[in-house]
Amino acid sequence: MAFFEWKEEYSGGIMGIDDQHRKIIAIMNELFDGIKLARNEEVVKSVLKELIQYADYHFALEEGLFTRYKYSEESDHIAQHRHFIEKIRTLIIEDYTESRDVALETLYYLKNWFQGHMLKTDMSYCRYFKLRESVAEIDKFIKG
Ligand SMILES: [Fe+2]
Ligand SMILES: [Fe+2]
Repeated sequence: MAFFEWKEEYSGGIMGIDDQHRKIIAIMNELFDGIKLARNEEVVKSVLKELIQYADYHFALEEGLFTRYKYSEESDHIAQHRHFIEKIRTLIIEDYTESRDVALETLYYLKNWFQGHMLKTDMSYCRYFKLRESVAEIDKFIKG
């Protein structure tokens, strides 16, 4: 069983968003394996970099949707995104170099955080958007 398994309950009903969440989960699994199996530090660091870059890309896309569809809960949501990115950064700077156990602990924290964010925070904007726009229109924007 993977460290972080996708579940149908995470789906907000917007395919483009679900796909990006799945990709973040996949990178987190790769990171978990890398740390757990004590892979070469450079390899782990490059997966960490990939996680930051992809999370940044995903968050920017969500934030773009908030502006486009005039979502009112955006400031709290954006603050949560920043928190996640900062936490990954501490993993790179402190935890990973400190010890593998601390790094794994942080990764469990990130997993729980992301699960909660998908289930609650992201779910509310999905509901809000779907009430106002067709899913096809939102997906078209996501895919650019
Ligand atoms: Fe998200
Ligand atoms: Fe989000």
